[in-house]
Amino acid sequence: MEMIVENALDAPTTVHWHGLLVPGEADGGPQGRIAPGSTWRPTLLIDQPAATLWYHPHPHHDTARQIYMGLAGLIIVDDGNDLGLPHDFGVDDLPIIIQDRAFGTDGSLDYDADELGVVYGVRGDTVIVNGAIAPAVRVPAGFVRLRLLNAANAQNFELRFRDGRTFHIIASDGGYLQQPVPMSELRISPAERFEVLVDFSDGKGAVLETGPDRAMGIFGAISDSGTNDYVPVMRFEPMAAAAVVRRLPSRLIEPEAANPESAVQRRQFVLNNGVCGQKMRMSGQPDIPAIVGINGRTHDPSRIDVETKLGTTEIWEITSVGMPHPFHVHGAMFRILSLDDKRPPDHLAGWKDVVLVEGEAKLLVKFTKPATREHPFMYHCHVLEHEDAGMMGQYTCA
Ligand code: C2O
Ligand code: CU
Ligand code: CU
Repeated sequence: MEMIVENALDAPTTVHWHGLLVPGEADGGPQGRIAPGSTWRPTLLIDQPAATLWYHPHPHHDTARQIYMGLAGLIIVDDGNDLGLPHDFGVDDLPIIIQDRAFGTDGSLDYDADELGVVYGVRGDTVIVNGAIAPAVRVPAGFVRLRLLNAANAQNFELRFRDGRTFHIIASDGGYLQQPVPMSELRISPAERFEVLVDFSDGKGAVLETGPDRAMGIFGAISDSGTNDYVPVMRFEPMAAAAVVRRLPSRLIEPEAANPESAVQRRQFVLNNGVCGQKMRMSGQPDIPAIVGINGRTHDPSRIDVETKLGTTEIWEITSVGMPHPFHVHGAMFRILSLDDKRPPDHLAGWKDVVLVEGEAKLLVKFTKPATREHPFMYHCHVLEHEDAGMMGQYTCA
């Protein structure tokens, strides 16, 4: 598929297909710079299982602001096998892109990466879904599929329904889970996707809401009163409709077993931000005061940090310092082997490309796409201010 990406901004940008498994030169990382007024035409060969992905800009030091101002969207990879799941787009299969924003008194978006914003990531006091504040949607009175994406700069959303109803997770970043996982509370971290089935056959309206970001402790309040209240995300209003999905499938698609024995390498990555007083190298950008990096080094576009071999798997051990960091790898999917030495919960046991690392995470990363020194793949924290400040590295795959 040929994509035509025209840069109509007055700043350089790129477009990265987050979760799409394509070679480095088509990935839209920071080296894929598109100058204002010019056009990029990558050819994307899509050969991966059905999944919910997304796209967003990735320019050097300007990713956070550009996404905040609105550049982000969903990609649905469909393999034609609907498994009996709801798949009528906009009817019982809904894109739900969740973000938090701060608005100025005139209603304009207010992006301010001050020192605190760089240290903790920029957060807002208003939750938006697909760009709207607390929208409502009419849904058929049956199972409805929500394709949830957290496209916030930094906030982890703690989702639940106000009436406490159970919902079922059917897919994570890289595709289907083995079977639906029932939950009544779901944390979704920046860049994560979950596909969720919700049963509205009782015909009752329901409010999806989000609570304080538990990963941020006492700084995690989302409501503007600074309390631990939950705030509404959106509202669902079931209506009687003829064609609805009334059955929850018992099995989906079992991902291949994650075999750590297959790993040819083991690597460690320590994600540091400077809140604990460690001495790290400065980010090099005069207007970014915080000291942010991976393994004590800030991102350097001219340095290849890791070289991997095409067709192999590796164990990557990620440690967060300062605060929990959502760690993302381009050009590859991984399985979570452990989180703080414990097996991951079922909804995190499938293919992933981003994981919130609170302490330590062990990942089995599978490298299936090539990337050269000129167009390497990135790995980074998906708190966008951390990424811009240099909590990012790059790897080749050959
Ligand atoms: Cu969402 Cu470097 O990507
Ligand atoms: Cu990505
Ligand atoms: Cu981070």
